Amino acid sequence: MSEPKKLYIKTYGCQMNVYDSERMSETLGGQGYVETKSPEDADMILLNTCHIREKAAEKVYSELGRFKGLKAEKPDLKIGVAGCVAQAEGEEIMRRQPLVDLVVGPQSYHRLPEMEAKTRTGAKALDTDFPEEDKFEKLKNRPKAKRGPTAFLTVQEGCDKFCAFCVVPYTRGAEVSRPADRIIREAQDLVERGVREITLLGQNVNAYHGAGPKGDMTLAGLIWELNKVDGLERIRFTTSHPNDMADDLIEAHGTCNKLMPYLHLPVQSGSDRILKRMNRSHTAESYLRLIERIRAARPDIVMSGDFIVGFPEETEEDFQATLDLVQEVKYGYAYSFKYSTRPGTPAAERPQVDPDAADDRLQRLQALITQHQREIQDAMVGRKVSVLFEKPGRLAGQMVGKSEYLHSVHVSDADVAVGELRDVRITSSGANSLAGELI
Ligand code: 5AD
Ligand code: SF4
Repeated sequence: MSEPKKLYIKTYGCQMNVYDSERMSETLGGQGYVETKSPEDADMILLNTCHIREKAAEKVYSELGRFKGLKAEKPDLKIGVAGCVAQAEGEEIMRRQPLVDLVVGPQSYHRLPEMEAKTRTGAKALDTDFPEEDKFEKLKNRPKAKRGPTAFLTVQEGCDKFCAFCVVPYTRGAEVSRPADRIIREAQDLVERGVREITLLGQNVNAYHGAGPKGDMTLAGLIWELNKVDGLERIRFTTSHPNDMADDLIEAHGTCNKLMPYLHLPVQSGSDRILKRMNRSHTAESYLRLIERIRAARPDIVMSGDFIVGFPEETEEDFQATLDLVQEVKYGYAYSFKYSTRPGTPAAERPQVDPDAADDRLQRLQALITQHQREIQDAMVGRKVSVLFEKPGRLAGQMVGKSEYLHSVHVSDADVAVGELRDVRITSSGANSLAGELI
């Protein structure tokens, strides 16, 4: 038998890229590739890139430059760029960095085998189309190998919302939902391989409207179907838009036993003026009322969110409104970013906020978020939580897992295996995790 070829994939950005990298690796597995952790061993290097913030494209070019030596030593080495920078830059990547053999956009991963074969003939391969066919259906079936207890599963891709700061509608394209039966099959398959918790992914996951047996299904409908899958213990989903938080989904948080009490619901800003300029089509008030309804359905839910500070024209008063909203919601987790210009998006042309002012606001916002995060984590001490154990901890005999609220929890000297779901009494709260004892 010939030696397997080695594939090195580096993944940047969001969870959807993590999922896509797994699927690309599985697909290239059919071409005789196995994954390696070191680029030096690789016959093919793939960078799965992200374009959402900061100088993403520049980072990719500098990373590519570092492979020059490797390619000189090993002329057969193939180098590919996938993901949202590939989509946004296209052919420009090959022009600027001639050592790149392959550029593949997020909607064309199922064409990787042909593209890889093309590069083996010495030609370059480029595909940044938005094809009609369902790439997931065309991608190779996921192999039956055993895997860890948690997995991502993409159910929806793309976005039609066009927030003024965001590249996603351009790089991932229009909103598309996968049919429900394929998702359920994939979930069953993951469970057979040891998965206990599935996080449903989509750029706008709660806009899910995939074909079901009786017409289109909502995300709540899909969750209820997954709730029936034996052996699947936990369901999560991310990322949601406030305007797509339908009544049946809110209700499911109170009634669906496998749906976890954690919700990532980005608001971006607390100022109605800025929300309007962002094209968010909701207000701070409507968002707060929505959270009231979600908390009425599931009082212990932990909220999470995303914020952008220093969006064009944001004043100190607008920023204060963001702090006020954060005070009112009290997030268990929140991600905050300084606005960064994305060429081609509407906000890119607008007057920018002074970078020092934006830095200062980011620091103040993060301090408040961290304080709340801490308080919510500390309030877990003394409580009983359920923990899905994922891996051994750093210390001998320690096991680490996640609570239903997504807090990291570790227990010491406990007789518990990876993949087990156990009740734990929380005994202390550390910097980034909780400690507890099995009940
Ligand atoms: N600048 C800063 N943050 C951004 N995000 C999206 N686009 C930008 C941008 N141009 C943030 C939003 C989004 C998260 C995934 O990234 O908060 O919810
Ligand atoms: Fe981007 Fe999310 Fe807005 Fe869509 S809803 S444009 S993905 S920030």
